[in-house]
Amino acid sequence: MWLISFTYFAYCMQRVILIGFMGCGKTTLGKKMARQLNIPFIDSDVEIERLNQLSVGEIFGQFGESGFRKMETDFISSLEERGDFVLATGGGMPCVGRNMELLNELGVTYYLDRPAKELVHRLQNAKVKRPLLEGMVGDELLEFVELKLTQRDEYYKQSQVILCREDQNSADIIRINGLLHPRQRN
Ligand code: S3P
Repeated sequence: MWLISFTYFAYCMQRVILIGFMGCGKTTLGKKMARQLNIPFIDSDVEIERLNQLSVGEIFGQFGESGFRKMETDFISSLEERGDFVLATGGGMPCVGRNMELLNELGVTYYLDRPAKELVHRLQNAKVKRPLLEGMVGDELLEFVELKLTQRDEYYKQSQVILCREDQNSADIIRINGLLHPRQRN
């Protein structure tokens, strides 16, 4: 009985989870969608930084990547208690342990698929510092992004909805989400 109630509760929730590589546009799109849906926007990196009073770079420096990944998994669990939200996940979050499974249980996952070259172009112009990319430019950066994308593909593609570049806009996602969520049809 409890299980049924919880499953129905989760189904009625409006939880949009944006998945994708660094620089694919999760934060910009997520903020816009949250504004339009009038629900909270959550950026996992920002929340982890706030919880630990350290930047992502400092967390990598003090606890290593594995320490950061553990914080990401704990953060996913903490989201179960929240109501509706649009979540922009860190690029590596879905690719560790059971995280992708947990995200799929939490809400509707949308993968913002973009080619490596385009990601590199966006990353080179980005203001946010990413510890995994530190000091990388040009061909070295492109090779790194291509390799990581290949490794992460199997996780990203477990998303419930995979969006090509043309469909990565708030109007399309809100429409798809409306088809998936009964609450939006009211
Ligand atoms: C990471 C992506 C970053 C951040 C961290 C690690 C990754 O988030 O979580 O630097 O492993 O891809 P964004 O995808 O928001 O840049």
